[in-house]
Amino acid sequence: MGFLKKLVPFALLGASLQGVALGADYPQEDVDSGKVLQQLGKTALDTALARLEGSTSGCTKENVRVRKEWRNIPGPERTAYANAVQCLMEKPNVYENVTGPRTMFDSFGVLHYKLTPYVHNSAYFLLFHRIYVWTFEEKLRTLCGYTGPMPYWEWGLDAGSVENSPIFDGSETSLGSNGEKVNGSNTFFPGGTGGGCVTKGPFVNYTVNFGPNTAADPLAYNPRCLKRDLNTPICSQWASLRNTTETILESPDIALFQANLQGDFRWPEARKFGFAVHGGGHFAIAGDPGGDFYFSPLEPVFYLHHGQIDRMYFIWQNLDWANRQTMAGTITMMNMPASRNGTLDDALDISPVGGNYTFRQLLDTVGDSPFCFVYE
Ligand code: CU
Ligand code: CU
Repeated sequence: MGFLKKLVPFALLGASLQGVALGADYPQEDVDSGKVLQQLGKTALDTALARLEGSTSGCTKENVRVRKEWRNIPGPERTAYANAVQCLMEKPNVYENVTGPRTMFDSFGVLHYKLTPYVHNSAYFLLFHRIYVWTFEEKLRTLCGYTGPMPYWEWGLDAGSVENSPIFDGSETSLGSNGEKVNGSNTFFPGGTGGGCVTKGPFVNYTVNFGPNTAADPLAYNPRCLKRDLNTPICSQWASLRNTTETILESPDIALFQANLQGDFRWPEARKFGFAVHGGGHFAIAGDPGGDFYFSPLEPVFYLHHGQIDRMYFIWQNLDWANRQTMAGTITMMNMPASRNGTLDDALDISPVGGNYTFRQLLDTVGDSPFCFVYE
């Protein structure tokens, strides 16, 4: 709780409750280099592990799973991860009465499509995506025998060149290359360097089976290649180490944290974050289906991107654990149509892909919950 004590002098100086003074504790160069984020991550990890002392939940220091940044995972384990995802692309779809989805991997896309209007810019955003990524990890393990760590993507490390990221460099230990370069008018955002089909590495032969969300029947069979349009300017502008760190440090409560993370312009404080890290990470990949709000999980790197979103949430929560187990916001996207506030006792049923939970169960990644994981 040394972190909180640091806040007090600033509060006494009359700093606003926005917490903007928090960043003032750190030299800008340490924010920009990622040093501060590393320290915050370490503090959060220690705080989470400390909760395991004497815990009776069955989650222990010995069996807790440690999620790792892609480049900190050895090559053979990265390959095993890509193979496990490809294995999920061969397991059967679990939704009935849909013509497009063919595989278990596809079923995750159906689930996300169905819940999109309720789980973005709403009370449920962070906790839904937490259980969603975890359920995906569970399927990799139970259906495809994956035993390695669940990876995440720290975008800020690639803000200099997404094209050269070990996730996208097209090598055998990547998750496939950029899309083929197409002429400018066919790219997805200014600054994109691909736009066409992935040309090499894992997922070069992956067929996207349905979507886009603008189709007359978005769940109808519509086989096509995986397209990417890697975009370094978007990554460096909106998903840098500075943006990631400031989002954590300048968000005193959950309402502002999720607003800053998603660039929710209903909060004036969030406007400076633009696309914000959530949009920044998505649109640094872009393409089809990566740039599709409803079907982005049909892009395999979605799970690493949302792993990093969940890691930020994990860090933010654990920097002030006692006060950061709350929910804020309504149950519709941008509160359209207007709806009631979400509560932690609301139920979340993600069958047939996954289980049935209350949101309260999803707050603690090492608690008496489905979860037993931390971020390194
Ligand atoms: Cu989503
Ligand atoms: Cu997202």
